[in-house]
Order: sequence, then structure tokens, then C-alpha cells
Amino acid sequence: MPVAIAIDGPAGAGKSTIAKTAAKELNFIYVDTGALYRTVGLAATRKGVEAIPSKEVDELLKNIRVELTFNDENQQVVLLDGEDVSELIRTPEASMMASAISAVPAVREYLLDLQRNIAKRNNVIMDGRDIGTVVLPDAKIKIFLYAEPEDRAKRRYDELIAKGMDVNYEDILKDVKQRDYNDSHRDIAPLKPAKDSIMVNTTGNTLEQSVQLLIKIMKENM
Ligand code: DC
Repeated sequence: MPVAIAIDGPAGAGKSTIAKTAAKELNFIYVDTGALYRTVGLAATRKGVEAIPSKEVDELLKNIRVELTFNDENQQVVLLDGEDVSELIRTPEASMMASAISAVPAVREYLLDLQRNIAKRNNVIMDGRDIGTVVLPDAKIKIFLYAEPEDRAKRRYDELIAKGMDVNYEDILKDVKQRDYNDSHRDIAPLKPAKDSIMVNTTGNTLEQSVQLLIKIMKENM
């Protein structure tokens, strides 16, 4: 049976970078489930969906194809109707859209099997908000990774600036807080630790410290 490691937590706690590095070290496949919600959000933006939730969103799901694939280096590539959108979904606008659309039950239902099927066939480190609680409740290890909002906003700001984007720290902090609120107050699959999660606070850590800490926890609990 393949082994699954679930990493959940709020936006910007370093989940994806940490999980990606740990996956390489353990020779697991890294799955970023946020990318799937971002892709549905992008599809909604492209189709001009005006209200969320709405019948339009339900219709949209019938007419799009979201696929999760991996390239030769085992890196995740998300396809929307056959187009690689992995980079296009990395903007602050796509984040907000993903947060809104991820509260729609039909969207979560639509993406559930896609996520579970990958874990059936591979050893995975899967990151998201509801991996330990909903998607893979039987995961071997569940980690809930968090950090103070200011710390997370600073990381996201540095990331976007490094990519050459014109962004403002206060706006990003506001977005981080808004997304935390949205993600933890929705009715379906809200962001919360599974009962058997290992809680890890990365506030003040360097990325390297968090990566080492997580790899240690994973190896000890494997
Ligand atoms: O991890 P991220 O920032 O790329 O996620 C984008 C949005 O998708 C985020 O606001 C919450 C949502 N999401 C979710 O509801 N469930 C997941 N498993 C992953 C992400």
C-alpha cells in the first residue's frame, strides 16, 4: 500500500516549499492540491462566471477538464482542458478566486477523486487544507503547519517581489487574513487540524529550519 503524508495549514506557512523538498528527500510525489482549486478559479474567470456559488459554477464543472499530471522530473503539471496552466494560476487574483470557489461543495466534490486517485497509486506528500480531515483521513502522517499572518504575508511578499511582480505588503497581509477567514469559516471542509495532526509552528524559522524539522518528524513517524 502506498504511503500518504498529509500537510494542511493556512496559506503562506511554507507548506509547498517544505513539502516539495521533503518529497524529494523521501522520494515521494509532491501534490499541491491548491493548484486544483486555482485552476477551477481560472476557468471561472475565463468563462466570466459572475456569482459564486451559482448555477453557473455547476455548469462550468460539466464543461471543463482538470488534470493532474507529472513531468519527467516528477513535478506537478496542472492541465485545464489540455493547457498547462501551472504558472498562470500563481497570481494574487487567482488566489482570491481559488479561495472563493473552494467554498462551493460541488467544486470540492469534483476534485475529490482526482486527489484520492493519485494517492492510491503513489507514495505522496499532499498539501492543502482538508487533506488529513477529508481527502486522506487514513494518511500515515498528518501535519498541520502554521505561522503568524505577518510572517506568512512577508514570505509571500518576498516571493512575489522575487518574481518581479508589483505588490504591496499591506495588501498581501490583508489578503492573507481574508483568506484565513474564508478558508476556516466555510461550511464544507473548513481549514482545521485533524484530531491526530502533529502541530508545527514555523513562525520565525528559516525555510531550511522548517524543512529539516519536517523531514525529521516524517522519518520518526514513518
Ligand atoms: O494553497 P493555495 O494557496 O494554492 O490554495 C488556494 C485556495 O484553495 C485556498 O484559498 C484554499 C483552497 N484550498 C482548499 O480549499 N483545499 C485544499 N485542499 C487546497 C486549497
